[in-house]
Amino acid sequence: MKQSLLFTPGPVNVAANVRLAISKNDICHREPEFDDLLAGIEDKLLAMFEIKNKARYNAVVITGSGTAANEAILSSVVGDRNVLILSNGEFGERLHKISTIHNANTFLLEFPWGQNIDVDAVEAFLNAQPMDVIVMVHHETCSGMLNPLEAIGALAKSHNAFFVVDCVSSAGAETVDMEGCNIAFCSSSSSKAIGSHAGLSFVIGETAEFEKLKHNRAKTTYLNLATFYAFMTTRSQTPNTPGVPLFYGLDQALSNILLEGVSNRYAKIKKRALLLRRGMAKQGLKFLIDQKDMCSVLTTVIVPPNVDVGRLQQKLREHSIIVYEGKGCFKNKVFQVGNIGELSNKDIRFFLATLKDVLKGLQPAAQEKIAAVRVSPIYEVGGNSAVCAPAITGT
Ligand SMILES: Cc1ncc(COP(=O)(O)O)c(C=O)c1O
Repeated sequence: MKQSLLFTPGPVNVAANVRLAISKNDICHREPEFDDLLAGIEDKLLAMFEIKNKARYNAVVITGSGTAANEAILSSVVGDRNVLILSNGEFGERLHKISTIHNANTFLLEFPWGQNIDVDAVEAFLNAQPMDVIVMVHHETCSGMLNPLEAIGALAKSHNAFFVVDCVSSAGAETVDMEGCNIAFCSSSSSKAIGSHAGLSFVIGETAEFEKLKHNRAKTTYLNLATFYAFMTTRSQTPNTPGVPLFYGLDQALSNILLEGVSNRYAKIKKRALLLRRGMAKQGLKFLIDQKDMCSVLTTVIVPPNVDVGRLQQKLREHSIIVYEGKGCFKNKVFQVGNIGELSNKDIRFFLATLKDVLKGLQPAAQEKIAAVRVSPIYEVGGNSAVCAPAITGT
């Protein structure tokens, strides 16, 4: 089977040494080899996040995708307090959904998909209704929007709330300044910008906040963060049987980033994004959001008039190129081109040339058929308008 080029926000094409790492010796997760492996991963995670005071933070690793880490945080840290979810897209909505399952006092402040979080509106909300916990996605993957970490972190601090951030699609590509942005807990996963296989996620948090978790009533057994922390700090182990080979892969992927240098890694990913954006803009393609608001992980491209996204994906797939379709209200309106994982400049040139050919092939035929199709009133190409009207709801 030919290896696909994954121009997606994850999973990604992994490095050869990461692929090799998962087929190391079989070990038992209750033996010292695993303790060493996990302790090394924790150390490397804190190094990748460029945490200066390592004594102030801990990391735990969970066998499960990014959602497992998000659910572990949301079910473990809130207790009976008020939690505010800020949402401007699919993944903010998912955080809200998880929180409503576990936390009776969940509030939602919602902004339209594809628009940035309005910091003044958040401040006004907090002035009217004090919150104990504020939760936000860093990179809202459905649009490619990088949300205002520093500004919301500062608001959280000035309102005595603690700040939780979903960094599932940003960690490994964008700076997440835990200390500077007052982040108490953040989550991420192995299979996106960190460049390993899917199946592991992790939580980094302030040690003092991890310590407090044992006083909270457990809302889940399997994803109880207090239990992960207790196993991590006493034995460098996990509460249940972990996906051991994946830990080897994650360890290798983190070593690769640290060897390359964290800032070099970020610069490389950004350079690739710019190369792709320049190339696609040259072909006349338009992007959903302003380049200044974009994360460096992916580009959300507006589907050109009269092109069917499914056919576009299929034609690219025939050349072993995989891109993402839009989610929710962006379905059939956009496609997403990721630039993380092991993609070379040659792969990017190949992608751009193939995309150009494929679009040329799709457009004339489609034009005849689609003359009568109307643009949906909920979405204007280039106008960045979206379906979700701002709403403030409590549960
Ligand atoms: C920002 C964000 N949060 C959470 C998730 C869910 O992660 P997973 O599918 O690994 O559970 C994703 C997945 O793309 C994401 O982009």
